[in-house]
Amino acid sequence: MTTAQRASTNDEASIRFVDLHPPADNFRQDVIDGLSKPQKTLSPKYFYDLRGSRLFDRICETPEYYVTRTELGLLDGIASDLSDRLGERVTVVEYGSGASVKVRKLLDSLQQPEGYVAIDISKDHLKASAQAIASDYPKLDVAAICADFVSPIDLPPELKLDIENPVGFFPGSTIGNLGPVGGVEFLKSAADFLSPDGQLVIGIDLKKDPEVLNAAYNDAGGVTSEFNLNILDRMRRELDAELDRSLFRHVAFYSEPKGRVEMHLEAVRDTSIRIGSEEFAFAQGETIHTENSYKFEMTQFGEMAANAGFGCDRVWTDEKEYFAIYLLETNEVASAA
Ligand code: AVI
Repeated sequence: MTTAQRASTNDEASIRFVDLHPPADNFRQDVIDGLSKPQKTLSPKYFYDLRGSRLFDRICETPEYYVTRTELGLLDGIASDLSDRLGERVTVVEYGSGASVKVRKLLDSLQQPEGYVAIDISKDHLKASAQAIASDYPKLDVAAICADFVSPIDLPPELKLDIENPVGFFPGSTIGNLGPVGGVEFLKSAADFLSPDGQLVIGIDLKKDPEVLNAAYNDAGGVTSEFNLNILDRMRRELDAELDRSLFRHVAFYSEPKGRVEMHLEAVRDTSIRIGSEEFAFAQGETIHTENSYKFEMTQFGEMAANAGFGCDRVWTDEKEYFAIYLLETNEVASAA
């Protein structure tokens, strides 16, 4: 990779840091736009401030949320096969890096990995995680890009990272949060970023017994509920929103016809949220739709990947077929193989 900007303090490992964070005003406008719709809506990307990111890390440890455990177990099981297929001296580009836990499994299995580029919207969490990787893997060239990875990542020319063997890594079935259109858009922009000879390792949550899904998004310890409600706290902290958090409750359910888990914040009685001069009234039972988490059939995901210009090299699943890891290749690699 070529040099961009360096960020470190005396006791932290040095990383390149590129801040493409959307301006704070977007949050205000997006909340106002979302609460003005007939079905009030907020984008799940706003879950992930520092507290939300930490809550998400805790969700991953709840007994009900099988997703993380299953994917980590699968990554262990396929490590040597995956490493042989990815080859030597690759740079791992992780989309939505979060706590950068899963990528350690990938890095540990790779033969002389060259670099690691973490891309995430949550700046503080991103810096801390990238710095931890840089100090634990001193031979890796580490960069962190603070960006909304769902949109195409347009690096200013002076900050361009010149990556020779890029391997995209998008674990956790986060693609399920983007919806069918957003999912293909993400795959297209990843194919573009990773081309001409890139590969993408992507985790996909598969359709399964709705009871398992409903439990996973309604953990008994209430961590998912806190994660969902944190978006209201964020509105109070960052937008000076006037609202009574105790008048909202977490609701999550699997919709079979839509093939997705939906999360909502439901008003337990008539109330309102005020942001500056705007007031949004809620009737009892009315909800803010905060997240969709799509679950996939394997054939359906294969088609999405193909529509975005990826060929499929290999797919692995766990014993219960709860989760799949795909190794996709941009067309140039796929057609050369
Ligand atoms: C990040 N994403 C894949 C999680 C999911 O399962 O959709 C977010 C989440 N929401 C509630 N629990 C976990």
